[in-house]
Amino acid sequence: MSEQQLPKDFLWGGAVAAHQVEGGWDQGGKGPSIVDVLSGGSHGVDRVITDGIDPAYHYPNHLAVDFYHRYKEDIALFAEMGFKCFRTSIAWTRIFPKGDELEPNEAGLQFYDDLFDELLKYNIEPVITLSHFEMPEHLVKEYGGWLNRKVVDFFVRYSEVVLKRYQHKVKYWMTFNEINNQRNWRYPLFGYCNSGVIFTDHEKPEQAMYQVLHHQFVASAQVVKLGHEINPQLQIGCMLAIVPLYPWSCHPDDVMFAQESMRERYLFGDVHLRGYYPSYILKEWERKGYQIEMQPGDEQALRDGCADYLGFSYYMSNAVQFSAKDSDDGRHIEGFPGSRPNPHVKASDWGWQIDPVGLRYTLNAFWERYQKPMFIVENGFGAYDTVEADGQINDDYRIAYLQAHIEQMKIAVLEDGVDLMGYTPWGCLDCVSFTTGQYNKRYGFIHVDKNDDGTGTMARSKKKSFDWYKQVIASNGANL
Ligand code: BG6
Repeated sequence: MSEQQLPKDFLWGGAVAAHQVEGGWDQGGKGPSIVDVLSGGSHGVDRVITDGIDPAYHYPNHLAVDFYHRYKEDIALFAEMGFKCFRTSIAWTRIFPKGDELEPNEAGLQFYDDLFDELLKYNIEPVITLSHFEMPEHLVKEYGGWLNRKVVDFFVRYSEVVLKRYQHKVKYWMTFNEINNQRNWRYPLFGYCNSGVIFTDHEKPEQAMYQVLHHQFVASAQVVKLGHEINPQLQIGCMLAIVPLYPWSCHPDDVMFAQESMRERYLFGDVHLRGYYPSYILKEWERKGYQIEMQPGDEQALRDGCADYLGFSYYMSNAVQFSAKDSDDGRHIEGFPGSRPNPHVKASDWGWQIDPVGLRYTLNAFWERYQKPMFIVENGFGAYDTVEADGQINDDYRIAYLQAHIEQMKIAVLEDGVDLMGYTPWGCLDCVSFTTGQYNKRYGFIHVDKNDDGTGTMARSKKKSFDWYKQVIASNGANL
């Protein structure tokens, strides 16, 4: 297996998101976005969502890693690694600074024209997410975020502008990044970044979350349909954070609980890729007495706008135990009710459980369920790197993580026959962490000299993994 190559047109590359790399948060006419009011945190210290910009806080996304000014240098390094594609997102606030304007901001549009041209110069396909944890802060303050139906129209207007403008430069799109994160509605960061809503502020938080989701599902479907009308060549996918949840044991209660817990992920693929709400969610709403407001035509819109492919992130797996379902004993993995640390796998310094086989398991589970092409648009190892006295960064742990995951990905493609479009490891260029706002939680092949204590020159340098990944791509996955 290890010497075999992946299919010829396999899209090797790397991934980032606008707000985690660009900086230039108030340049080129850009408006404030929800991530611009997120303070820096650290492992175990939550990021604070502030009311506007508060000088008492530090906002790492304002500067990020200055990709806004340095993208040419960074893209040259991606090209040197042999990237076939590069995934990033468009900052909505560069195009519509407040979100409810009728006319877009030309300087913002021009920035992405220039960025895509630079990628295409090296034959690197842009892979673009329309909404990666970003929306104009104005839409949150004035309209209440995605809980308000009007935001559907604002998002569709923004999407129409960029789909039309870049249709001949960008073929691969995704609508909402990790749309399922907000299913963890108890965690303000997830709801806020997905939809501008802090669910726990609402009387019926879970119902509010489903209402938001309905709006986003409809918006996504409308955008897929519109995109195909603009240019039938466009491939518009959805994007889910997939963490397979294993049963803790073979006790039937654990097995059933794991299946039910997986619906927290399947729900999103089911609606995006099949075009309708599955029975288990309709029953749940009925049981809980939830009223989700839908407009005439919404059901049809969902059917007409099924996503072309499933993009997903995979970092870890988890195990869930029925008897821990409602337990609050502090032993669960944060964000995963009923979970228990899996004794068969190791974890990163941030507690993310490392499980390469889980990637093959995921690819097969979702392929069997949907029979639609898939794209691994995030995978990677967040770690503290050490710069040696001679400037070297020997990130063998990162190489080992990626190597093991690529090996399992190859088995899924070459032995199981899943339809996989490509692989873009997360944070190919060191960037600001989403969950903690840290610089020092690093994923990159390219080091950025910027640290949590404020030091650093922003200079770029190659880590050991840079040359390793270069030869993986050059051999089309044969040399790991
Ligand atoms: C995903 C996100 O959740 O994981 C990225 O799509 C994020 O935006 C990545 O950066 C890794 O998470 P973190 O918190 O380690 O940056």
